[in-house]
Amino acid sequence: MAGKIVILTGAGLSAESGLGTFRDEGGLWSQHRIEDVATPEGFARDPQLVHDFYNARRVQAAQATPNPAHDALAQLQRAWSGDVVIVTQNVDRLHERAGASALHMHGELARALCAACGARWDAAPRMSPESPCPSCGALATRPDVVWFGEMPYHMDEIADHLNSCTIFAAIGTSGQVYPAAGFVQEARSTGAETVELNLEMTEISRTFDSRHIGPASKVVPAWVDSLLT
Ligand code: APR
Repeated sequence: MAGKIVILTGAGLSAESGLGTFRDEGGLWSQHRIEDVATPEGFARDPQLVHDFYNARRVQAAQATPNPAHDALAQLQRAWSGDVVIVTQNVDRLHERAGASALHMHGELARALCAACGARWDAAPRMSPESPCPSCGALATRPDVVWFGEMPYHMDEIADHLNSCTIFAAIGTSGQVYPAAGFVQEARSTGAETVELNLEMTEISRTFDSRHIGPASKVVPAWVDSLLT
């Protein structure tokens, strides 16, 4: 049986589906201050501003459609004889809408979390500080998205996969945010072959064995074809 493939995906994978990236020219972090909309302190300071930011992204993500890169990764999960584990930093559901499964290490726009009791539920398209928790009734509803300073989800499971994979690929991520940016080193240390697929060189490109430079909708299907043939 073929070995396990672990694929880390970032905002660049969904760029051609019309969803903004964070650090590209005109990206989300050039329009909003991270400390205002993506930290627990920002949420405590102005929960309405935070809900407005995620409401807009939630509505946009729901209207987006998977692009050929999402479709190719779903095909790889179906056709590869070994495991294909997608670890996504993205909070959209485009992997799932393409028929793939993914571990959402930064949470999901489509899910809500009660900051008081920890309950999780499917988020309404638009939420507000007045949206009560369906479990405890507290007015402490937040997006179930991991903010800066918070621990990403599924880290133990991800570490197990990185320690047992034969191929590690990073697709559409700038490699500037840890722990995700360190995954390639963990995979290398267990002897995996590492490959980066991105529109351009990144800060961590040199740590990969090989690189495919170009838009994800082109280089990801080509890479998947090369694996399956
Ligand atoms: N095809 C392939 N790659 C692309 C494309 C494209 N069409 N468009 C942009 N990219 C690449 C950029 O070159 C860049 O390397 O996608 C990457 C986007 O980088 P970021 O905007 O930093 O997004 P990401 O790496 O996913 O950010 C990681 O940071 O702010 C946090 O929680 C947020 O999950 C996010 C994390």
